[in-house]
Amino acid sequence: NKGKYEHYMQKEIHEQPESLTTTMRGRLIRGGSCKAKSVLLGGIKDHLKTIRRSRRIVFIGCGTSYNAALASRPILEELCGIPVTMEIASDLLDRLGPIYREDTVVFVSQSGETADTLLALEYALENGALCVGITNTVGSAIARNTHCGVHINAGCEIGVASTKAYTSQIVVMVMLALAIGDDTISNQTRRESIIDGLFELPSKVREVLKLDQEMKDLAKELMSEQSLLVFGRGYNYATALEGALKVKEVALMHSEGILAGEMKHGPLALVDENLPIVVIATHDACFSKQQSVIQQLHARKGRLIVMCSKGEASLVCPGGSCRVIEVPQVVDCIQPVVNIVPLQGHFLKTSGDLRKKIKHSDESESRECGR
Ligand code: UD1
Ligand code: BG6
Repeated sequence: NKGKYEHYMQKEIHEQPESLTTTMRGRLIRGGSCKAKSVLLGGIKDHLKTIRRSRRIVFIGCGTSYNAALASRPILEELCGIPVTMEIASDLLDRLGPIYREDTVVFVSQSGETADTLLALEYALENGALCVGITNTVGSAIARNTHCGVHINAGCEIGVASTKAYTSQIVVMVMLALAIGDDTISNQTRRESIIDGLFELPSKVREVLKLDQEMKDLAKELMSEQSLLVFGRGYNYATALEGALKVKEVALMHSEGILAGEMKHGPLALVDENLPIVVIATHDACFSKQQSVIQQLHARKGRLIVMCSKGEASLVCPGGSCRVIEVPQVVDCIQPVVNIVPLQGHFLKTSGDLRKKIKHSDESESRECGR
């Protein structure tokens, strides 16, 4: 039932404060006077020792699920100290890339049934790796055939373009990093600040959803353009890729997510006063580097739309020289959850073609549901 929403996708975007709450339910331990705040993931707790001993962690997924894994990579590297590599399922299979028995391979999939991801799972199992699933669908092929895993419990996702599953996948993988890194005392303060951030995340997402009208107005302006670039880096490289993927999938418009650190190695040549460019510049360790990217884009008279932390418009856009989207700030590693929300579905209303696509998904309800 779509309730007051025109499309399932819209409904699912607005459900995110609740879906994130369900994802975390029973898995965050508040701690107390003599007990540290911690995370309990029932599905992997018996495998944590093996995961900590692995030579590397390999993330495998397609589309949005791959992007969610990419968003979680930095915190996993930081808290676990294990090298993390990224694989798009079809590319791993095309190359028959090396997978070892000392690897932990994490399969990320909303449906748990995506053909390429399943073939990559078969391949990793043949090569003797520990296979971990992160899926929304209880009883799916990935849930059944992995050695262990975590259900994201985001609730059924019907819209073909993934939204609430993306944010819940990131939260589960951040919790995975917290659980694997739980044996390192030196990270305790950092881990506790992330857990505090997770507790307040649903309310921050509720807050960012209030940008709805502002984003709809912006989307209306941009819909007639040929193309849209999205620049991000660090935790928000994934936001750039996922934001661009949503624009492609939903507005049927060309869009490209670009790693901001690569800007001067090619993409800068595209910049002029017509091409709209979204720059993700919320406050984290990469902030000053993003400020300098914005200055360089400015020098080329780029048409900039900058996403920044609330209250920092003057730091990213001196003299009000560009358009700004201000979002609530949260702990750096979960900021991608907040930042993706304004980019998820606002191009929807203005596109006739899109309506057809979403309607098709509404009618077929082809996706398997979680619980
Ligand atoms: C489980 C129950 C949940 C209950 C909770 C109480 C299920 C599906 N979940 O949740 O209803 O409230 O205990 O403690 O019954 N798994 C895989 N691959 C995957 C995903 C999961 O092998 O891709 C396995 C896990 O290793 C685990 C099982 O499926 O053995 C359930 O996983 P999950 O639902 O995440 O576990 P809990 O959160 O403990
Ligand atoms: C694609 C969908 O076909 O599959 C994407 O269009 C999705 O939205 C991708 O992210 C992967 O799906 P899943 O179910 O494996 O996460």
